[in-house]
Amino acid sequence: MKRILSTLLLLLSCSAYANSGGIELEEADINLSDTLSLERGAQHYVTYCLGCHSAKQIRYKRIALDLHLDETEILKNVAPIGAGIYDQMHSAMNGHDAEKWFGTTPPDLSLIARSRGADWLYTYLKGFYTDKSKPTGVNNSVFKDVAMPNVFWQQQGTQVAVIKNIDGQDVLTDLHLEQPGQLSPKEFDKMVNDLVNFLVYVGEPVQLERQSMGKYVLFFILMFIAVGYLLKKEYWKDVH
Ligand code: HEC
Repeated sequence: MKRILSTLLLLLSCSAYANSGGIELEEADINLSDTLSLERGAQHYVTYCLGCHSAKQIRYKRIALDLHLDETEILKNVAPIGAGIYDQMHSAMNGHDAEKWFGTTPPDLSLIARSRGADWLYTYLKGFYTDKSKPTGVNNSVFKDVAMPNVFWQQQGTQVAVIKNIDGQDVLTDLHLEQPGQLSPKEFDKMVNDLVNFLVYVGEPVQLERQSMGKYVLFFILMFIAVGYLLKKEYWKDVH
């Protein structure tokens, strides 16, 4: 029994190690009630991601409703030129071109936050580093040999990998900012965080509704308890 347990533990620790490839996931600061962050995230998505990735599960109309924005505002500030309020977030790129350029089709990102998790996304988007052997010139700390280029190279600058030899194996342990970009690391973190916040929202838009509804439900339950208590007192007051 002991042996089985220790083997299991060993396996578990191995897989945790293999997942991260020597790099720990960074924690994203997710706050779905921060509608300004969500709006900035939506703008970044349209500017930097929509060229390749659609997010077909969501329409601009829905974003406007959830973020309490005017329809004209969302069309002017967020949606790409020519998009209609009832449009889904369609990408301009077609699968055929993508196949030709990247050897693979960039996936729809509607549910990516659910399948990968917010922390993974946050680490992934910050995890591109120079790798001359790749066609895109970059590799990624949590997605080895990824076919996606670093779309934030201007904002982030360029990073290089810090490789250490651990037990005879080269392991990527850290990333080092070699050439700073237009944004400071702090500003860049915020930008990526807003984007991840938006992707978490897109993964399950009803979360916003559920959270605000939760307050009413709690209020109702409290009211009900108070009324119930008063009623009980009333009914039992003569029984003694
Ligand atoms: C120039 C095209 C392009 C742009 C722009 C782009 N991507 Fe990608 N992305 C790709 C390709 C191609 C892949 C597939 C990579 C692979 O499978 O090797 C990918 C993969 C991904 C993945 C991994 C999906 C998985 O398999 O789990 C995520 C997450 C992602 N992109 C997020 C983003 C975000 C967020 C943005 C905007 C900041 C963005 N991408 C902008 C081309 C692009």
